[in-house]
Amino acid sequence: MQRNPVGKLLLFGATGDLSKRMLLPSLFGLHADGLLPEGLTITGSARGDEDDDSFREIARAALDEYLSDDRKDKEKIASFLQRLSFQPADLSDESTFQALADKIGDISGGLAIFLSTAPSLFEPAVKGLEKVGLAGDTVRIGLEKPLGYDLASSREINDTVAAVFPEDRIFRIDHYLGKETVQNILALRFGNSFFEPVWNAQGIDNVQITIAETVGLEDRAGYYEGAGALRDMITNHTLQLLALIAMEPPARYSKDDIRDEKAKVFRSLRVMTPTDVPQNTVTGQYEEGAVSSKVVKGYDDELGYDSDVETFVAIKAHVDNWRWQGVPFYLRTGKRMAKRRSEIAIQFKPVPHSMFSGRGGLLQPNTLVIRLQPEEYIELLVMAKEPGLDRDGVRLREVPLKLSLDTEFAGQRRRIAYERLLLDLIEGDQTLFVRRDEVEAQWVWTDAIRAGWAANGTKPKHYPAGTWGPSAAIALTERDGVTWQDD
Ligand code: BG6
Repeated sequence: MQRNPVGKLLLFGATGDLSKRMLLPSLFGLHADGLLPEGLTITGSARGDEDDDSFREIARAALDEYLSDDRKDKEKIASFLQRLSFQPADLSDESTFQALADKIGDISGGLAIFLSTAPSLFEPAVKGLEKVGLAGDTVRIGLEKPLGYDLASSREINDTVAAVFPEDRIFRIDHYLGKETVQNILALRFGNSFFEPVWNAQGIDNVQITIAETVGLEDRAGYYEGAGALRDMITNHTLQLLALIAMEPPARYSKDDIRDEKAKVFRSLRVMTPTDVPQNTVTGQYEEGAVSSKVVKGYDDELGYDSDVETFVAIKAHVDNWRWQGVPFYLRTGKRMAKRRSEIAIQFKPVPHSMFSGRGGLLQPNTLVIRLQPEEYIELLVMAKEPGLDRDGVRLREVPLKLSLDTEFAGQRRRIAYERLLLDLIEGDQTLFVRRDEVEAQWVWTDAIRAGWAANGTKPKHYPAGTWGPSAAIALTERDGVTWQDD
């Protein structure tokens, strides 16, 4: 991969929450390790009346709050802050852009823009940038979600951006793709020979993908009420995980090869009819309960009014192609769940015949667990014989073959997803960014589910905070004789 680094970075939303918690600490991490191009300048922009000095103070405070103590090197922080400057901008105001262009100056050495804004502001933003010459050949743009709320609005945004930037200069962010363990799925599948022969409908019974969070609304009512769990977590992050599990082996580790294969998976997702939806989806909303022994409010109480937005969703999905015919993919995500956990569990088919059955030995099918967070490990559950003389029958037990990535790579720092993604944006590597056709296929599938909920008048079922969601989610898999991997 040829690196083509830019000389300037423009960060919209630079004083917001994402910037303070993730972007500035990530950029500092890259700076501290000497990975940012020499001389790269970072111009922050947002509404308000900050200036260079006050923005540097905001950044200093954010680093102080969000960096771990061992990363707080005073000299490196000081030299990082020297890269920063600030230009106020109101994206809804056309006259904002000239001052921005003046502040940024010469962009012949390349400019990367990070745009995280409400969907309604994408259009004025890209048009304004183009007008003042901040969209030419040397400029690439990173787009943070939400990129629309359905297929129609996503197409509108994509068209708007495409009128100014060609696809090879658009970097759509899904931060899950920047996570180390997520990329490890590729290493596991395509760097080892023994899984591939059984990685299909003959070898695999079902796949479960869980992204469970313990946090609740987190002061994001404005956004979350227009999204809900399906669009906040499944349409993007969960489907990206599904694609990495389900895709065919790409020929090369390149942006086109990998994204072509993922896009094929998204296009193969079975689109549900309104009659399919009630049997294949469950929605929930948390009510008061206890998370980590602390009493927390219900969603409606946090909002201050009654809402029908789902904070939990479980879905039985299908990938309709040769490899996956008949294999259910159970997807599940929720806020205020029992534990924070992102995990993929692949359950293999049982052995065709058990020679132990006549001697009392019970077999469980093998399961491969890929734990993404909070811990990082890969665990294969295999059958073993319990020690003993077996005079009362053979006793078999499931035991874990565990590869702890935390332990195996103990000395190596885990970078937050945005470190890698910002560096890829700066250097122009699109492999871990989402292509337009992927996003649109994701929306086709999602919109059909939402249409089914609307047609059936589906309302979320309540579940107490601190649990694994409504009991209907358990029934969704139990009907097929499958149990969620919950321990
Ligand atoms: C974001 C969602 O995309 O991902 C949030 O908008 C969610 O609602 C977050 O909390 C989860 O990310 P992570 O990296 O903490 O699993």
